[in-house]
Amino acid sequence: MNIVRILEILKNREGYVSGEELSKELGISREAVWKNILLLKRYGYVIEAKKGKGYKLIAKSKLLLTWEIQDGLDTEFIGKKIIHKMSIDSTQDLAISIADKEEEGTIIIAEEQRRGRGRRGRVWHAPKGGIWFSLILKPEIEPWRATLLPLAVGLAITDTIAMLGLEATLKWPNDVMINDRKVSGILLDMSSEQDKINYIVIGIGINANIDNPSRYADNATSLKDELKRDIDRIDFMRRLLKNIEKRYMQLDDEQLLEDYKKRCITLNKRVKVRSFDEEYDADAVNIDRDGSLIVVLDDNSIRRVFAGDVSIRI
Ligand code: BTN
Repeated sequence: MNIVRILEILKNREGYVSGEELSKELGISREAVWKNILLLKRYGYVIEAKKGKGYKLIAKSKLLLTWEIQDGLDTEFIGKKIIHKMSIDSTQDLAISIADKEEEGTIIIAEEQRRGRGRRGRVWHAPKGGIWFSLILKPEIEPWRATLLPLAVGLAITDTIAMLGLEATLKWPNDVMINDRKVSGILLDMSSEQDKINYIVIGIGINANIDNPSRYADNATSLKDELKRDIDRIDFMRRLLKNIEKRYMQLDDEQLLEDYKKRCITLNKRVKVRSFDEEYDADAVNIDRDGSLIVVLDDNSIRRVFAGDVSIRI
């Protein structure tokens, strides 16, 4: 892509680069160079244009642009293809509609979502400043083991938040919390046959540079609210994709569950379970190999919770 090549040249030069040099380098007219510069400006790059001197990059874009995330991305397959949208109804819905024909690891990311979806049919507010994306995976595992995936991704999010110097925990199954407030949520959509997964789309929402997210959802926080500053979303994304890939490779490894348990605040707590048709109190005692939560009821009966809402009672 021409804009990416122009950007590379500008990034590697301290001073000005003339329009003539760019036009020669790329084999396009000077007018075409100018059009590409306008496009880069529209993407949020600050570029100075001076008569007789040429162009100079003053500041990079802060948008989650494909080529910015991929520049320095150290993964095997996650993020090799990234589709970036300025605004979309839901990255999840677009990802599901193309998952069959896309390669494993493809990502759809958006600056804002107009109709973001949360778990259990809830609305997920996704204004500008957050990190909202969906990841297409095609794991060769039995469908029943897919429930482990969002746990692995939740863990990868806490790994990445730790790199910012914050401590994040997990509320089973995969709400990512900081100081008991939700900073990130995960959604899983799967298409499978009896013994084969066609695809899984994991939707990840992270309140990154959002002021006061409790305006949108009860008990929410953001990385910005916790740190009192903006984070570098591009750097965060690169690290997160690397961490997701690492944890994804660990699905067969007991270490994954051990690490999850260490960060899970639901374990060993009194909980209220709300499943589709019932509600009860119990003690959360363990997490099974498939990621289900094992609870003991007051009559000492044991149950496994696969889905549903579990709130911690104090
Ligand atoms: C939850 O309820 O905790 C899950 C929230 C998941 C939100 C993400 S944002 C990117 C992707 N697109 C959506 O519409 N939802 C998920």
